[in-house]
Amino acid sequence: MSGIEVRNLTKRYGPVTAVDDLSFTVRPGAITAFLGPNGAGKTTTMRMMIDHVAPTSGSVTIGGRRYRDILRPTTVVGAVFDAASFHPFHSARDHLGIYAAMGGYPSGRVDELLELLGLAEAAGRRTGGFSTGMRQRLNLATALLGDPRVLLLDEPSNGLDPEGMAWLRSFLRDLADAGRTILISSHVLSEVQQVADDVVVIREGRLLAAGSLRDLSSTSQAVLVRTPDATELGQILAPAAYLVEANGPQELRVRGLDPSRIADLAAARGLRIHGLTAEHPSLEQLFLDLTGERTRP
Ligand SMILES: Nc1ncnc2c1ncn2[C@@H]1O[C@H](COP(=O)(O)OP(=O)(O)OP(=O)(O)O)[C@@H](O)[C@H]1O
Ligand SMILES: [Mg+2]
Repeated sequence: MSGIEVRNLTKRYGPVTAVDDLSFTVRPGAITAFLGPNGAGKTTTMRMMIDHVAPTSGSVTIGGRRYRDILRPTTVVGAVFDAASFHPFHSARDHLGIYAAMGGYPSGRVDELLELLGLAEAAGRRTGGFSTGMRQRLNLATALLGDPRVLLLDEPSNGLDPEGMAWLRSFLRDLADAGRTILISSHVLSEVQQVADDVVVIREGRLLAAGSLRDLSSTSQAVLVRTPDATELGQILAPAAYLVEANGPQELRVRGLDPSRIADLAAARGLRIHGLTAEHPSLEQLFLDLTGERTRP
């Protein structure tokens, strides 16, 4: 098994705490989205996974080992970060060939990957003229040279058009179905919503939510409560709920409590409920609730 385990990971840069006592796991055979607004600590966390950044404290293991203890790390973990650059006068084939030689991979692997990533036609062209999408594919090809079981992609959909994103989604799905561990970061939920099985949400370096996207969607389910006793009921529900807000003078929107619990809490205080309706769940709203300025009442 080659899951990722992040344990009490912390990274401080002087007064800035980029990652703050973060713990979560990423399982094999699934695509996990690593979400958080700009500056949340996603890149820093992912760089700590591959020893590009030294943690202040805490640890990361991949398949039970720390990165530095893995014998041939590029055969276990492939990583793609934004800033990867190519020599502009090298062709895609040159670029991959150099990395294949450095990693000691058979040269046949280069053409295999160019084919797999749809770069066969462009293989002889200088990378200096490559589009963003082609660069992303070449980055991905480089990370896949060692046929790694774990793939880390930092904001892979940056600069991709819808067609490129659809291609990336199905490409990653195939890798996950083959049992690989895939972690992709994004600051936009809608980009990964269609592809992720699991999500890990952070803000200011701290964990906000982790679990299957399906479970998180049901948490985001809101209940609309019609009641002439809105103020009093709101005060009673607030400590137990994730979020309570007024939705008109005689209506509350409640997240994190199911209808029967709301009814019981109201009945215990003799408060009236004239209607309970499940609101259409919105993951986007949950993400905004979690990461945005809106906080618990
Ligand atoms: N080398 C560094 N020196 C000082 N501060 C840093 C360094 N790297 C990151 N930080 C700070 O750590 C915090 C987390 O940054 P990080 O790049 O990990 O966030 P992110 O979630 O990847 O954001 P984005 O969505 O913008 O890519 C930010 O406040 C950032 O300014
Ligand atoms: Mg980043």
